[in-house]
Amino acid sequence: MKHLLGIEGLTRADIESVLRRAEAHLHGAPDASHVLRGKVVANLFFEDSTRTRTSFEMAAHALGAEVLNWTTAGSSVSKGETLLDTVRNIEATGPVALVIRHRSSGAPHLAARHVRCAVINAGDGTHEHPSQALLDAFTLQRRWGEVEGRTVLIIGDILHSRVARSNLHCLRALGARVVLCAPPTLLPAGIEALGAEVTWRLDDVLPQADAVMCLRVQSERQGESFFPSAREFSRLFGLNAARAERLKPGALVLHPGPMNRGVEIAPAVADGPHSVILDQVAHGVAIRRAILEEVCQ
Ligand code: NCD
Repeated sequence: MKHLLGIEGLTRADIESVLRRAEAHLHGAPDASHVLRGKVVANLFFEDSTRTRTSFEMAAHALGAEVLNWTTAGSSVSKGETLLDTVRNIEATGPVALVIRHRSSGAPHLAARHVRCAVINAGDGTHEHPSQALLDAFTLQRRWGEVEGRTVLIIGDILHSRVARSNLHCLRALGARVVLCAPPTLLPAGIEALGAEVTWRLDDVLPQADAVMCLRVQSERQGESFFPSAREFSRLFGLNAARAERLKPGALVLHPGPMNRGVEIAPAVADGPHSVILDQVAHGVAIRRAILEEVCQ
């Protein structure tokens, strides 16, 4: 794999290879600190991040690399420097990989056409967030052994969610059933063509789910109003304590973060017995080591 730009187009074997590598990293053996020794991984975050940036940084360090952390704040973007000029200038300093997050869908793809080093998409607009989908699949696989045949219910702001799109491709490739539940205004037209089932009746599908993934309501990407109020969204689509009672006993609850506690997920559920939200974060480091290894080899 030269770049990791999205899950769409990856085969099941590609995905399973990353998951296998991540499993080895999770056990800390063999020592991987020589893999990228003397190399530099550049994090280019044109958009904010807590988990993704820090875990790419920790993953790169664990492989022995130096990390260049570039963020828009304080950069020449404020002077009008373009994405391509920024990317080419950072590349000229000699990194082996660029980890790019950008508010525009396709930005890492554009960058990849103009640089020689590897490019990893750390979230592009509303399009894809491949490392998140891989760490989510890893979290599910580690609990279940196999993702194949399981039902994963993804709830909320599907329209603006790169996490939902990448997860849909990844989970389908691994043989899971994916059900998307959202108000019709927050469902992209034609998403069924990608292999998802679609509903807006949360209470009907909840008991079928082996895992429920709640998505953040992405107010910053919503130019207009997609639902009357946060309160109404929460009443119809929020995973609250009463709904959690109706989950299968061993069902898993995921959220990519950052959470709007009390909107798409109640604090009691986020911190409750079904939640694997912090496992997702922990697994993110192993997955990102595996990704860096794959693209830099
Ligand atoms: C997500 C993102 O930025 O796409 N967060 C993450 O990377 N864990 C989800 C979100 O912003 O809602």
